[in-house]
Amino acid sequence: MAKSPIERFSTVFLVAGLSFFLFSFVSSGLVPWLMMNKIPTQSLDDLAKHIPKSFYKLAADYPQEFKLYYGEPNAASFKEAISLGRDNYIAEACWHCHSQQIRPISNEPQRWGKVSTADEYQNVLQMPQMMGTRRVGPDLFRESERRSNDWQMAHLFKPTNVVPSSVMPEFPWFFSADKHPNKRGLAVVAYLQWLGSWAKDSTDEMIQSIPKDNRASIQ
Ligand code: HEC
Repeated sequence: MAKSPIERFSTVFLVAGLSFFLFSFVSSGLVPWLMMNKIPTQSLDDLAKHIPKSFYKLAADYPQEFKLYYGEPNAASFKEAISLGRDNYIAEACWHCHSQQIRPISNEPQRWGKVSTADEYQNVLQMPQMMGTRRVGPDLFRESERRSNDWQMAHLFKPTNVVPSSVMPEFPWFFSADKHPNKRGLAVVAYLQWLGSWAKDSTDEMIQSIPKDNRASIQ
């Protein structure tokens, strides 16, 4: 005897499929939207209200190149540099190997700094968000001032220059023929040094709150 439509496998799969679709729409779409829509989104102009010290340092470390490509270190050049840096971070697939999300597990705060919060992603440079999906390399959400500009340049040019065992690719096209950083190279380092600069003070507080004996590995 033929089965009634309600007993057919295809009906069960259809109902299950639609239900799971609805569930994921609510849990991954609606709920985050309801939680996030009250947090104001920061524009580039908002971000430029807090130019980190590292940006002026970049202009001082590479005076000729900075002047040539960006002029003076100010709000306009800051906006241009960090957006171009973000665009290159996407274009070169840095996000494929690096996350930008510090979670409250696996000693991540000790390894990288303050756990990241939703409001830190509410800005135009996190659209789409750069949380990443895997970690071939370390998390970069608190990279600001962790390394000097020179270290970052030497590393981007040829990572094994500074980390002999590195599997990170080389990015020689961030440099001119005479090996000085070009516009893209400066932009990527401005972006890396900006990442987490807004949480610098609280990161320092976080380090102070860790017992002295355990600090050595993170400082
Ligand atoms: C194939 C994977 C891969 C890609 C793509 C990649 N990286 Fe890395 N990255 C790594 C690995 C592995 C390390 C750790 C070893 C080292 O320091 O070189 C690392 C380390 C780093 C560090 C040092 C972090 C620290 O403070 O120790 C920075 C900064 C960095 N990468 C930036 C970038 C940027 C910017 C890009 C894109 C232009 C990029 N990476 C692309 C794998 C990758």
